[in-house]
Amino acid sequence: MIQERESNVEPDSGSASNLAVVILAAGKGTRLNSRRPKVLHEIGGKPLLSHVIAAASQVVPPADIYAVVGHQAEKVKAAAASSGIRFVEQTDQRGTGHAIECAREAIAGYENVLVLSGDAPLIRSETISKLWRFHQDQQAAMTLVSAEPPYPSGYGRVLHKAPDSHPSDDDLSPGTPVSPEVVAIVEQKMLTPEQLSLREVNMGLYAFRTAPLLAHLGKLTSDNPHGELYLTDMAQVLHAAGERVVAFQTPDPDELLGANTIAELVSLDATLRTATARRLMGSGVTIFRPETCVIDADVEVDPDTVIEPFVQLLGHTRIGSDCLIQSYTVVENCTLGNRVVLRQSCVLEGSTVADGALIGPFAHLRPGCEIGEEVHIGNFVETKKTRVGKGSKASHLTYLGDTVVGERTNIGAGVITCNYDGVHKHLTRIGDSVFVGSDSTLVAPVTLEDGAYIGAGSCITKDVPAGSLAVGRARQITKEGWATARRARHKAKE
Ligand code: UD1
Ligand code: CA
Repeated sequence: MIQERESNVEPDSGSASNLAVVILAAGKGTRLNSRRPKVLHEIGGKPLLSHVIAAASQVVPPADIYAVVGHQAEKVKAAAASSGIRFVEQTDQRGTGHAIECAREAIAGYENVLVLSGDAPLIRSETISKLWRFHQDQQAAMTLVSAEPPYPSGYGRVLHKAPDSHPSDDDLSPGTPVSPEVVAIVEQKMLTPEQLSLREVNMGLYAFRTAPLLAHLGKLTSDNPHGELYLTDMAQVLHAAGERVVAFQTPDPDELLGANTIAELVSLDATLRTATARRLMGSGVTIFRPETCVIDADVEVDPDTVIEPFVQLLGHTRIGSDCLIQSYTVVENCTLGNRVVLRQSCVLEGSTVADGALIGPFAHLRPGCEIGEEVHIGNFVETKKTRVGKGSKASHLTYLGDTVVGERTNIGAGVITCNYDGVHKHLTRIGDSVFVGSDSTLVAPVTLEDGAYIGAGSCITKDVPAGSLAVGRARQITKEGWATARRARHKAKE
């Protein structure tokens, strides 16, 4: 789990106190055409921003991470509050350069600052660490991450300095031999016709030495098609000021991809889920037709568990070993032990299932259930806030709500707990080794003590003492020969 990895990571030795991370997350995400702020859109079952925070938290402690928030700031802050990071407000979003200006006070005390995009969620902590090391090795004022994706259109392009040239000999034309030194980043809309063929793009991930960044930040102008202050222009500004600007080329541009449109968002989601399935298969989990399964980023599954096609494993779901999860089953925020079988088309939410339990097909565990070892919850059984003890069974057509069931108890077909009186919910307690006959209704609050036996079709409204039989139904009347006589009467009339 990501949380576990976070706690295991040592901050870069000796660097933690002089390194801040700024995550740009104030933008509206105009191109998403959504009412929800961009960084709160989800991939792999959690917000874009949470992915970036998780990666950054493995490099610096959360207290040194600052998210620049603006558009729907309160919502964004609330969503990220539990991470322990800090926030900086950018009330008007006047560009990525302006976002850093808003963070000026926050970062002034750090020697270096890494800038990440809140909308590029596939970023891995290893890449952030590599950028940080490269930046230090190069003794640069600004280091940007660049790549050569197959479709560079839309990204800012990186202009390199000609090798061994004097700064005044800068060659801004394409095809120049590459030195790590950069003279400028040119945004898509500003590209000259010949620069359009440049393939090396700015991935939007940077390291800065704070002093030159803040000393020259005021030189940014909004002289561009968006009328914004572009952080990317700092490459040119710093280079012109005689500072060293370099590019760190990554071979894997995918992880720096941004989600600017819903189509891009969905494709990042697919990329992440493919990676999650690969990770699980790499650790010994069998996933048949993984492309049909929906597995969230934080899901953990132990080896030798088999997942059939069209399964969804969502949220903080944790599954033990030797389990079988059959097709069309959806599991959200659940913990399953070992040797659990979830048959086809089950829905499990916010519940725990112990070793060897057998659930389904077509069972529904609503939040708050604790299903014990070797329990069987069968076809069309719904449970809610219900604890079922070891070896008990509810095999067919049953509703158990706000119920505690002991061990080795048998709940017959069609048993219903009436837990709601129209105003309040009430508890049903069923002891060990109880037999509840089919089609019984248990009107809560009610207790069936250990070893009680309930006749089929009973409506139970009073507690049943241990070892007793309770039958609550109309007594059967049998009239011998009645049906035969009736048939004979009808026949005579024809
Ligand atoms: C940016 C880069 C571009 C690069 C691309 C990589 C600039 C000007 N361009 O373009 O060179 O190729 O990333 O993905 O930086 N944000 C704020 N406040 C603002 C504006 C933006 O916090 O005032 C945030 C956004 O929420 C987003 C991030 O900054 O998380 C990047 O902004 P975005 O508008 O997505 O920039 P791109 O067009 O992707
Ligand atoms: Ca972007």
